[in-house]
Amino acid sequence: MTMESGTLEVRLKAITFEAEGINGYVLEPLTAGELPPFTAGAHIDVHMPGGMIRSYSLVNNPEQRNRYVLGVARDPASRGGSVYMHESLRVGSKLKIGLPRNNFPLNEAATRSVLIAGGIGITPMYCMLQHLQTIGRPWTLYYCARSHAHAAFLSEIEALARATPTAKLHLHFDDEAQGKHPDIAAMVASAEPDAHLYCCGPAPMLDAFTKAAASRHSDTVHVEYFSAREEAATDGGFTVKLARSGKTIPVSAGKTILDALLDAGIDAQYGCMQGVCGSCETRVLAGVPDHRDGLLDEAARNSNTTIMICCSGSKTPELTLDL
Ligand code: FES
Repeated sequence: MTMESGTLEVRLKAITFEAEGINGYVLEPLTAGELPPFTAGAHIDVHMPGGMIRSYSLVNNPEQRNRYVLGVARDPASRGGSVYMHESLRVGSKLKIGLPRNNFPLNEAATRSVLIAGGIGITPMYCMLQHLQTIGRPWTLYYCARSHAHAAFLSEIEALARATPTAKLHLHFDDEAQGKHPDIAAMVASAEPDAHLYCCGPAPMLDAFTKAAASRHSDTVHVEYFSAREEAATDGGFTVKLARSGKTIPVSAGKTILDALLDAGIDAQYGCMQGVCGSCETRVLAGVPDHRDGLLDEAARNSNTTIMICCSGSKTPELTLDL
């Protein structure tokens, strides 16, 4: 099944309408059998023409081993990924995808999981809800969207909530709230002290969530960025030493580390190029990175043991990487 390290080919079995501007994509194995397992909160990389790679959360129940389901919003500011998914893909096409990876894992032991989703941020959350249902754990979901019509998987989630006595579902639609934004601080404040909190949605929602949850134990606060959290570091003026090959690559102004490596013909791994998928994570052997990604938490940033080379730079004149 594996085409090259960490990838496989699947068939696009169906495209479904899920909400205004949001389609579902059902991927199945080329031949009968199972797909590699995944855990709630995982994503896959979809390889597109021109070397473009985009990451999408898996929406379906991890118990389903014969399919991966994605939910993709057509982003008006798309750099090509969501337009390709919405306009070029046809049912029956073969797709090259990466194996599932999880940067947003669910703590299965939590006494309650509180999930806050904005728009297409519902995709990893819907997967988590199904898994929480499977393992019999209580959950609270705050689902925020522009309108009822923009809320993907809503009827399925409402059915899940009805079938789960311990579940609590709160909906916020901007158009029904006279354009008022959801009160993220109130949602966080009402969560039990030992609850695990998860947030996925647009950057202002994530910022409000991170601020509101600052006093909670960091192990219980989980965030997933879908787009760049900060601007990429492109000031340049440092060199990257590649420990395995012994090469030294200068990173000049206007370039990321990844740009510099690709320009030099180095075969570096990457996906989103926005610091959100983790494909380019690289071990740091010496030097201090200037972290700009949306994946590493404060402790991981301060440990300086890894770097997302697609967006982060260096605070030291030289950075030695395990490449
Ligand atoms: S390529 Fe996605 S985090 Fe760097």
